[in-house]
Amino acid sequence: MSYDAQIPRKISSLSTERKSHTPEVSLEIEELPFQPDPLQQQVLDSPAKQLLLCCSRQWGKTAIIALKALHFAINNPKARILIASASLRQASVLLDHIVDYTTVPTRRGDKLLFPNGSRITALPQAPKTTRGLTAHVLIIDEAAFVDDDLFESLTPVLASTNGYLWVLSTAGDQRGFFYQIYSNQSPDWHIVKATADDCPRITKEYLARERVLRGEQRYRREYFCEFQHGRIQFTSREVVEACFDMSVKEERIHIDYGT
Ligand SMILES: Nc1ncnc2c1ncn2[C@@H]1O[C@H](COP(=O)(O)OP(=O)(O)OP(=O)(O)O)[C@@H](O)[C@H]1O
Ligand SMILES: [Mg+2]
Repeated sequence: MSYDAQIPRKISSLSTERKSHTPEVSLEIEELPFQPDPLQQQVLDSPAKQLLLCCSRQWGKTAIIALKALHFAINNPKARILIASASLRQASVLLDHIVDYTTVPTRRGDKLLFPNGSRITALPQAPKTTRGLTAHVLIIDEAAFVDDDLFESLTPVLASTNGYLWVLSTAGDQRGFFYQIYSNQSPDWHIVKATADDCPRITKEYLARERVLRGEQRYRREYFCEFQHGRIQFTSREVVEACFDMSVKEERIHIDYGT
């Protein structure tokens, strides 16, 4: 089964499109739970195999990826979608969003079961328990706070399906896979950055209060996508990079010891 051909271009099709093979599912979703912002619409429309969202707190990362996952589950019968986060409780938040949107799936603990055979499962944060799983979509929420070990143990679940990897978080420390992917800016990834200024629901007045409450560094991490130096990091990545002048070429000196 090829999922490439079926990934939706517009989430708005959720409210209008009635797929003949899943009529009972489409019919029950009357309208979108909210009007996506332009950047959120970009996320919904993205067909990228690897998608990373680095956004302000409360921008709507989980809400929009929940909508994208719901759309995928509905439009791809027997889809397997896995969600991991810093804890099982946090991974389950995405399931809560979906349950708020629609009564279509049945909730069984940490799983949502769809009438078309699709399944969305929230995973515990235990790398050893992820072997044997296969997925068409792997979602990592709060990725800046997820251990590299878990990330590395999970990505092979997409190997046999050539599936989709959606990684989302607020900025964290300057380390770990989320920071690496975000700072490498590889063309293999569709990277979406959104600060609090890109969120119409976060007011200037609220931000001013948060700035005082949290202090400048934490405020900028939480709302403006600025990664912080880790506690055991002596200096920032920018300072280290500035120490390397790439224009200087390596020179090898030959010493003849006369042996
Ligand atoms: N376009 C939108 N219109 C109206 N409400 C929205 C929109 N996008 C998100 N929301 C609402 O904003 C709130 C925050 O969304 P969500 O929890 O997804 O944010 P988040 O970025 O994941 O936050 P956190 O960083 O705390 O995890 C939710 O109540 C969600 O329904
Ligand atoms: Mg969230």
